[in-house]
Amino acid sequence: MNHVTCYLNEVGGRRAIRVDGFGVVPAAPVSAQARRGARRAVVRVTHASVGATDVAAIRGDYLLQPFPRLTPGYDLVGVVEHLPAGAPSHLSVGQRVAAVLPRMGAHATRVALAPSLLVPVPDGLASAVAATVPLDGVTARLALDALPLDARRGGSVLVQGAGGAVGSWAVQLAGADGREVYGTASLRSRRHAEGLGATVLDYDDPHWVEHLRDLTGGGVAGAVDQTGGRGVRDAVARRGRLVRIAFGGAPGHQRRATATGVVTTLARRYADPRELVCSVPLLVATRRAVYRRALADLLDAVAAGDLIAPLPSLHPVESYREAVADAASAAAGTKTVLELED
Ligand SMILES: NC(=O)c1ccc[n+]([C@@H]2O[C@H](COP(=O)([O-])OP(=O)(O)OC[C@H]3O[C@@H](n4cnc5c(N)ncnc54)[C@H](OP(=O)(O)O)[C@@H]3O)[C@@H](O)[C@H]2O)c1
Repeated sequence: MNHVTCYLNEVGGRRAIRVDGFGVVPAAPVSAQARRGARRAVVRVTHASVGATDVAAIRGDYLLQPFPRLTPGYDLVGVVEHLPAGAPSHLSVGQRVAAVLPRMGAHATRVALAPSLLVPVPDGLASAVAATVPLDGVTARLALDALPLDARRGGSVLVQGAGGAVGSWAVQLAGADGREVYGTASLRSRRHAEGLGATVLDYDDPHWVEHLRDLTGGGVAGAVDQTGGRGVRDAVARRGRLVRIAFGGAPGHQRRATATGVVTTLARRYADPRELVCSVPLLVATRRAVYRRALADLLDAVAAGDLIAPLPSLHPVESYREAVADAASAAAGTKTVLELED
């Protein structure tokens, strides 16, 4: 047995949500093995968000989780219980930390993970609030950072789904960067997106792209899109850039829409490098320091009141079905957060 497994046995093991078959939402966590590795830290998870990606993964509709027997959850907040030898000196046992995982597995009472994924949670920031930040906030930050300089400093930006979980962060971050922010939303989330500072167009209006081109004198300098739609290309000015964080698709068709969208986007980049894909799990796996900086800055900004986090809608992990139902229909400005205990 390695250090991590020994440690977890000593402290009573771990429980995790396990999806045994696509489409069947587990009722509660079950006893589970830890991922192995002597170089891993162990975090006792106290809070973990549930979002659109988890709902899709449980349904069997998420490209990066093609097989069942998965534990959903890309991000967490918790307390460090164990650190391996050689862990960074700014981390300590008992410290509150947040993390995005490169692969799902956060809906568990304990998670064994690389210490380089851990970011301290600022004092004074409630763990339930901090848990709304990691995946959604980092996605918004890294997608915006992929836009060209004129879109980053003062240029106009379109955020598709501006009242959604990622969109709400993107609107605020783009505004804080000094950009002129446009967003799409339906009536459901329009007021929320406007409250965060976006000029909102109704995505159900078939002429919204023309309206946006009129408003911006020919299109925005950059756009963050999660619909995969072709029309959004026309919303971007000739030298602007389009960042795709998702590719839409009706429930049951999202895996295929993502596969097609990623291949099309990558193929188009040869002819037209204005369009790119932003996958946070991939960036967390490959650009660890960039991810940590982004998450640390977001947590600091929320703690300082410079960014508004969504209202956590709290559910005990023992009521997992209710939590997933809540996440599937979350009201704008709220985020489903699991509360976990030993
Ligand atoms: N690339 C990555 O690393 C990454 C990371 C996190 C999430 N994601 C993906 O990003 C997507 C969004 O995630 P989320 O958590 O923000 O979801 P969310 O909170 O459910 O928000 C989705 C938003 O999309 C809007 N929307 C629905 N149909 C639309 C349309 N036809 N045109 C424009 N907007 C439309 C909704 O607006 P209304 O409420 O007004 O209807 C809603 O605000 C999901 O597919 C998720 O899996 C990707």
